[in-house]
Order: sequence, then structure tokens, then C-alpha cells
Amino acid sequence: MLDNSALHKKVKSILYSLTGITLSENKDIMIANRLHKLKRDTKYSGDIEELLEAIEDGEYQMEFINSFTTNKTHFFREDFHFTDLINRVLPEFAKSGKDIKMYCSASSTGEEPYSMAMTVLEAQETLGKKINATILATDIDTNVLQYAANGIYRYSKSSKEFPQWIKPQKYFKRRVQKTLANEEILIKVKPELQKMVTFQVMNLNDPTYPYEKNYFDVIFCRNVLIYFSTPDQNKILKKLFNHLKMGGTLYLGHSENPHDLINYVQRIGQNIFIKTKELP
Ligand SMILES: C[S@@+](CC[C@H](N)C(=O)[O-])C[C@H]1O[C@@H](n2cnc3c(N)ncnc32)[C@H](O)[C@@H]1O
Repeated sequence: MLDNSALHKKVKSILYSLTGITLSENKDIMIANRLHKLKRDTKYSGDIEELLEAIEDGEYQMEFINSFTTNKTHFFREDFHFTDLINRVLPEFAKSGKDIKMYCSASSTGEEPYSMAMTVLEAQETLGKKINATILATDIDTNVLQYAANGIYRYSKSSKEFPQWIKPQKYFKRRVQKTLANEEILIKVKPELQKMVTFQVMNLNDPTYPYEKNYFDVIFCRNVLIYFSTPDQNKILKKLFNHLKMGGTLYLGHSENPHDLINYVQRIGQNIFIKTKELP
């Protein structure tokens, strides 16, 4: 029988091989809680050690991944990226009439890609021109993708989530339901927003990505690299970069770093990078 330390070592090794996520030291309480939840979700009748063996043999892998991802997000997180999108990127596409292809590479419960979509619709209205935008949103966690595709969120009027230039009632319908705790209500994304976003499951740790080279005009890769080791962050960044067009924009999370891409980009703002050169 494995002791706790050996059990946690096994969890870390399985998580790394399935997702590339590296769990740092002092995550014992988190691992214990998530293992407990995993056992409940899978309704596995044996003990945790047997469950981990079953996962290593290929069973319950989706449930394992879904239990061990951290999905914290909110609408217009790091809103200066959306300000850059509306002020600098989108006017070009409104002017040229060219399609804009955007990619949200760790979309969690959907707030980030829907914020991208609201920014496009807002730009369209301000500029008085149609913008043909598509947004691909991927994540490794199938539960959050399902949640995102449903597009139902809790909202409180006192929330500071939305910037001043976004009126949530333009983009969400109130669900007929009693007010929840803390004056919260349920809101549902309107169809015009929903139809701009396609959700798909994708593992950033896969050796290659199923997209054309130089396909995207904009890539959001925010608050996900932090879960990977520096060498693995570099690998992911390089794979993503191959699918970004020359002159396209890469947005990274506030504590993330472009590492080896630094000589191939121009930094134009807080973790905003324009592709200036192809990788060798
Ligand atoms: C903290 S959330 C960040 C969400 C959003 N990008 C933001 O900045 O608010 C991190 C997301 O990365 C996803 N993730 C973790 N490992 C991944 C992998 N190997 N491939 C794809 N997504 C992954 C998780 O499931 C989670 O939803």
C-alpha cells in the first residue's frame, strides 16, 4: 500500500503524462481534495490506489483531467487586452473587410472567448462596419467546455467584471428564475454571440496542433502557461506561434513570459506581442 507521499507522486506523474501540467510542491491538500472529488465523480468502488492504476491503464482519464485542471476565469479578465483588440486590431479588419480568425487556447468556462466576441460586436457598432470574425475556443477539460457551450452564467449588478464600454444586457438574456444568493441572477449568452464561438477539446501538450500554419490573426494564451514547466511553456509557445500569422497578435497572461519567442516578436504593451519573424 502506497503512503500519501508516494500516492501524490503518482498523481503528479499521471497528470504530467496526460496534460503536461506540473504540480509544484506543497499541493498536498489540493491533491487530497481533488482525489476525493475524483473518487466521488467516478463512483469508483475500490481504493484510490486502484483507481490510479485504472487511470494508468486508460480508464477514467477524462474524469482525472477534469478534476485536476484549475479553471479560474472571468469576463474581461485583464481588460487592457480587449481595449487593445478594439482600438488597434479590429479597426484594421473593419477597414480591409478581411476575415479575422481568433483563437482562445485555454478557454475554461467561456468567459474569455465570449469577451472576445463582445469586443468584436462592440467594434462593429462603433465603426459602423461589418467584421467577419470567427473565434475558436479550446480547452482540455470537457466539463468546462460543456459549461461554456451552454453559455449560462451568474451575474450580479454590483459586479465590476464588465468594463464601462460593455452593457451586459446587450449580450445576455436574463433567465426566468428567482434571484440567487448575493443578489445574483442567471444570464444566458445571446445567439449572435454564441454563433461566433466554436468550442473544441484540445490538449496544448499534444506534439502538434490540428491547424494550418500562419492561420490565426490573434491568439489568446492567458493564465495557462503558469501550470507548465519553463521548457514545456517554451514548447507550447513555439507550437502556437507557428499558427499565428506574420503581424498577428499574441496575448499572454499577466505573469507569463514569451521566453524564446522574444526575438521573433515586438512587445507593444502589457504582455501584448506582434509576430515580426518566423521561427527558424
Ligand atoms: C486558469 S484557466 C485560464 C482561463 C482563461 N484563459 C483566463 O485567462 O481567464 C486555465 C485553463 O487551462 C486549461 N488547461 C490546462 N492544461 C491544459 C492543456 N494541457 N491543454 C489545454 N488546456 C489546458 C484548464 O482546463 C483551464 O480551463
